[in-house]
Amino acid sequence: MSFQEMIRSTNTCRYYKPDPVEPAVIARVLDAARFAPSGGNRQPLRILVVRNKANKLALRDMYLPIWNNYMAGIREGSVRLGGRPAMLESADHFAQHMEEIPVLLLVCARLADVHPTDTELGRLSIVGGASVYPAVQNMILAARHEGLGTALTTLHCALEPQIKPMFNIPEDVSLAAVVMMGWPEKPFPKRLSRRPLAEMVFDESFDQPFAAAADPG
Ligand SMILES: Cc1cc2nc3c(=O)[nH]c(=O)nc-3n(C[C@H](O)[C@H](O)[C@H](O)COP(=O)(O)O)c2cc1C
Repeated sequence: MSFQEMIRSTNTCRYYKPDPVEPAVIARVLDAARFAPSGGNRQPLRILVVRNKANKLALRDMYLPIWNNYMAGIREGSVRLGGRPAMLESADHFAQHMEEIPVLLLVCARLADVHPTDTELGRLSIVGGASVYPAVQNMILAARHEGLGTALTTLHCALEPQIKPMFNIPEDVSLAAVVMMGWPEKPFPKRLSRRPLAEMVFDESFDQPFAAAADPG
């Protein structure tokens, strides 16, 4: 499989086979995370592997009320969705069956080691995440390379104070995402629903389209 094929077919997997993932395979996937960049190479990433059914059930039960709330927001129009409405059905199945997914990866970061350069701007800081999420994408692509499906989720992060003691997560470590992983029940998609390049790339100034982006390729 070419690199282009791989990134163009790496979707959010919401249906998984129950088959376990070998520890050596999990380790290979996580090893890819180490090679991502981080501010000052301070490498704030920490990952907790969760496979125990009781722990997964607890995480599902924490996720469900937030998910149901999110669904209610979509229904009443206060939450905007970029994707197709059909996605909701699979995302709901995913939420209801979370404990059946073989591996849940709690992606954490030591906040003292992220380097946010945009905290004084009077708006939401976004830069801190840049020392964490490239590693998550490395994991997601490494999983895809192994034939594994993944889903990057962040709803649990709102429950960080409750989740940290459950897993002995140290005081100075925060929850950045939960990545679900397992063998996909359905084939990887041929095509992902994404905004065309021409709508998101500009040339020197935001009022100038980047001409080469007009050809979607
Ligand atoms: C920051 C972030 C948070 C997300 N959180 C959730 C989540 O909590 N639950 C979920 O089902 N999907 C979550 N997703 C997955 C998105 O819904 C998914 O990436 C998007 O719909 C595109 O899906 P596709 O890659 O299958 O086309 C999240 C994705 C990102 C990048």
